[in-house]
Amino acid sequence: MKDLRGSNAILTGASRGLGTLMADALAAEGINVALAARSADGLEKVSADIADRDVKVVCIPTDVTDASQLDALVTTATNELGPIDILVNNAGIESTHPFDDYPPEEIVRLIDVNLTAPLLLTRKVLPGMLRRERGHIVNIASLAGKGGFPYQAPYASTKAGLIMFTHMLRVELQDSPVGCSVVCPGFVSEQGMYADMRDQTGIKASRLLGESRPEKVAEAVVKAIKTDASELIVNPSPMRPMIAMAQLFPDVVPRVMKSLGVTALARRVVAAQSKAEDPEVERP
Ligand SMILES: NC(=O)c1ccc[n+]([C@@H]2O[C@H](COP(=O)([O-])OP(=O)(O)OC[C@H]3O[C@@H](n4cnc5c(N)ncnc54)[C@H](OP(=O)(O)O)[C@@H]3O)[C@@H](O)[C@H]2O)c1
Repeated sequence: MKDLRGSNAILTGASRGLGTLMADALAAEGINVALAARSADGLEKVSADIADRDVKVVCIPTDVTDASQLDALVTTATNELGPIDILVNNAGIESTHPFDDYPPEEIVRLIDVNLTAPLLLTRKVLPGMLRRERGHIVNIASLAGKGGFPYQAPYASTKAGLIMFTHMLRVELQDSPVGCSVVCPGFVSEQGMYADMRDQTGIKASRLLGESRPEKVAEAVVKAIKTDASELIVNPSPMRPMIAMAQLFPDVVPRVMKSLGVTALARRVVAAQSKAEDPEVERP
């Protein structure tokens, strides 16, 4: 989509973290935004922070795991702003556990928030976009969906699913003016789930992987919409050669993860969590 001014967007996960920067980046482009997440207070704060942008902003408290609330989100956003041109599926959760110890209800919740909700929300807005011959969907996945992250198998699985969903939808949409992109951030500094984990545990990504500034993710969202990019990776060091190698030689993945420091990082997070839960226990 080239001319974004006056477009209407729904942004999920807008109450904190990377969503706050995405809200500002969309508003800076002249896009009216419907901010969605569970925390009404968080949404109101983000709305106040972007009030000086010359756009309409509406806060719609929504739990994306509730299908009726997804209906209400689209209806309210459409009533308040007009037809939805842009959907940014950003809401996401992560958790870290050895898989043999993963709480089953947590697995279900991860899939509901990270994968089912974006697919259902896309299903709701896509017919209108196709009718009006205008629209773009951006899914926020993760580098974890390209290369995985040990002890976060459910999270990585949902993000891999979201990446594949985007690519298959692009095939279906290739002859239409409606676009679809996936943005895959690596570790992001200062705001968001990785920064929260780093602040809580003091554990940070290896220098080889590095951290991106959160603005880079918001910039990637706008770039994806403007250029109809299929997939944008946001990471300080180039990751595609590594990802290609993992595709060609899947057997080397555990060794690559180890040499990049990813496995050690994940194990330290698990150990820090176990210790916090029970000082007597330290695993793995
Ligand atoms: N930060 C990183 O380093 C990083 C790296 C790669 C990918 N990502 C991806 O980037 C996206 C944003 O993550 P973040 O780092 O900004 O995380 P965050 O700071 O934890 O924020 C997550 C957002 O999702 C919302 N959310 C969670 N569960 C929800 C639910 N059931 N219904 C509605 N909204 C819900 C939260 O709002 P409420 O709690 O108010 O509902 C919040 O606004 C996620 O998809 C994440 O996987 C982040």
